Amino acid sequence: MKNIEINPSQKPFNLICEDIAPDKSISHRCAMFSLLSDRPSKIKNFLLGEDTLNSLNIASQLGAEVKRDGGSIEITPPKKLSEPDDILDCGNGGTGMRLYAGLLAGIDGSFVLTGDKYLRHRPMNRVVVPLRNIGALIDGRENGNLAPLVIRGGTLKAFNYTSPIDSAQVKSALILAGLQGDGKSYYKEELLSRDHTERMLRGMGAEIKTNSDGFIEITPMDKPLNPLNITVPADPSSGFFFAVCTSITKDSSVVIKNVTLNPTRIEAYKILQKMGANIDFIEKENIYEPIGDIKISYNGKLKAVKVSKNIAWLIDELPALSIAMSLADGTSIVTNAKELRVKESDRIDSVLIALTACGVKTIEHEDGYEIIGGDRLQKATINSHGDHRIAMSFAIAGTLCGMKIEDIDCIDTSFPNFFEILNSVQK
Ligand code: S3P
Repeated sequence: MKNIEINPSQKPFNLICEDIAPDKSISHRCAMFSLLSDRPSKIKNFLLGEDTLNSLNIASQLGAEVKRDGGSIEITPPKKLSEPDDILDCGNGGTGMRLYAGLLAGIDGSFVLTGDKYLRHRPMNRVVVPLRNIGALIDGRENGNLAPLVIRGGTLKAFNYTSPIDSAQVKSALILAGLQGDGKSYYKEELLSRDHTERMLRGMGAEIKTNSDGFIEITPMDKPLNPLNITVPADPSSGFFFAVCTSITKDSSVVIKNVTLNPTRIEAYKILQKMGANIDFIEKENIYEPIGDIKISYNGKLKAVKVSKNIAWLIDELPALSIAMSLADGTSIVTNAKELRVKESDRIDSVLIALTACGVKTIEHEDGYEIIGGDRLQKATINSHGDHRIAMSFAIAGTLCGMKIEDIDCIDTSFPNFFEILNSVQK
């Protein structure tokens, strides 16, 4: 277990950031969706983080040929996905496990999906139950709720499913199952969760449309899809740590280059804008999704904010936002965010324990929290609970007051060069 001590710097910085980590969600999907084609997919700027490399490794175990030159990858799918001779290890990645569950449920063979000690304690019923209802044979501990999951792939029925949660992982698993179903399937969620799956699969020629009643209509594939040819944009969730850092460091600015501006991914920047930071979005191109730059500059003390809507669009950024909220004028309130409890850690618990250690007054609710903003944070020792977003959020806080962070290995799951960029901010 690695620990780190961050020294306070508080020096103004003006950074043009070209090397924010490539998008994790899109990289996972590149590895998996390339298996749905019959020709090689070409992917540039693939995220070389642990989670996404695990998804790529699983693609190889299923028979794909993977050629890799740094972040440039060519994935040649096998004629038929083969039954692997070993377990499939998703590491810390909920996205890997849940999406592969949907994909493999329709493939002839036996598959065991497992992960690290954190992933093996996260709920899988959200995909296992709807997949079982369409004929998938899946088992695991606690009647299939906990990994390792054992999947015996086979024929899947078409479905009409309204999801009780807004989750892109659940939606994507069901879309992948629907593409292999015996007729058209329909999927509905209350708030559109991140929609990379729909955009990328449509781009590959899949018939996936959103009907006027809000249902996504999925037509089963009658032939292999076209291959992917994509440069993965930067990850706005990773860039957001430096957006927060800028918004709390006097006279600073950062430009996050070539990042996805997909509306389901940039809500946290809009909240930070509402809190008072200067933020501009500059769209430059549209390849599967809108891509461009986000410019953030310091604009004085932040104001408190109430967050109760579009939670699925903020779920990965709320830990970093909590640092901004601790330094804002007034009490910030987050509600309807129960999903935070089943992320890489219970993020309500881990955020509040860490903020309390930093001297911030907070109130816990079952579905969120209140943070009483102030003028300063105090140095503390923070346990990441194995959650990359907790580790990075409090490393950012450390640039103001210093911080010891325990168990930082998890940062490699999504942002292996995080500390290089943090060092350039602190120089
Ligand atoms: C992801 C979806 C989100 C997010 C996760 C990545 C994805 O999870 O928290 O980091 O790539 O589909 P949920 O869809 O379960 O909310």
